[in-house]
Amino acid sequence: LRLFSGSANPELAQLVARYLGLAPGPLVRKSFADGELYVQIQESIRGCDVYLVQPTCSPVNDSLMELLILIDACRRASARQITAVLPYYGYARADRKTAGRESITAKLVANLITAAGVDRVLAMDLHSAQIQAYFDIPLDHVYGSPVLLQYIKEKQLGDMVIVSPDVGGVSRARAFAKKLDDAPLAIVDKRRQAPNEVEIMNVIGDVKGKTAILVDDMIDTAGTISEAAKVLLRQGAKEVYACATHAVFSSRAIDRLSDGTFTEVLVTNTIPVPPDRRFAQLRVLSVADLIGEAI
Ligand code: R5P
Repeated sequence: LRLFSGSANPELAQLVARYLGLAPGPLVRKSFADGELYVQIQESIRGCDVYLVQPTCSPVNDSLMELLILIDACRRASARQITAVLPYYGYARADRKTAGRESITAKLVANLITAAGVDRVLAMDLHSAQIQAYFDIPLDHVYGSPVLLQYIKEKQLGDMVIVSPDVGGVSRARAFAKKLDDAPLAIVDKRRQAPNEVEIMNVIGDVKGKTAILVDDMIDTAGTISEAAKVLLRQGAKEVYACATHAVFSSRAIDRLSDGTFTEVLVTNTIPVPPDRRFAQLRVLSVADLIGEAI
């Protein structure tokens, strides 16, 4: 078994490798003057089971292209089996057509990864469950919730309500609530005006006097979660925690998350959060052992 890391999250790859008692294998990566990428695996992988760890996170296009080139390099080096380990699957939100003449990028990316020559995919908290079916090769879907749940349980927060920040996330929040002794559930009715712009209408469920735990798959610009948190506080929630597997953190995310609205913001390390993007309320929990175990 060999594990190689793309450049998107080498810290996580290192932790996964350590869990498996390995070190990430050697490779050379170069960019040409025009931006084209070059990758060479620096050891023989003939007949090996190869795991490529590469979340397709920002810069998304570069991360994805690097993954495809890595897969191609491994296939041409006669690896026996290639598994793409995708802690974060970019382009997942366009998972169906919502208007005419749109692309379904989640399916397009699945096609590209498959065509590059991968045998198996290990993905974490896909934006929607149906993306599993976009692959005609084996796909293992791992959830980051155990580490988030463990942290919440250890805090012994008492009177909690688990909140989905939109209708689409209800089953995720319900599963989370179930693992917390069937905590009550609330739903924020989110209306999206334009991509990355959010207007919140109202809350379904009782949050008064409770510790509200907002659960989502990702925090991108933090518009969704911070508008939801403000509504919960207006409706009398005692405090609000944010829980999400993927810390995409683009645009104004850090300002929104650190403005005092949240008691804590819990994310995992599927996407790296550099030191200058960290703030006092942020906790980054590791999913490396979960991935290592799944491998
Ligand atoms: C939406 O369906 C997702 O689950 C997230 O709620 C959304 O992508 C988060 O985006 P943002 O942080 O930019 O509001």
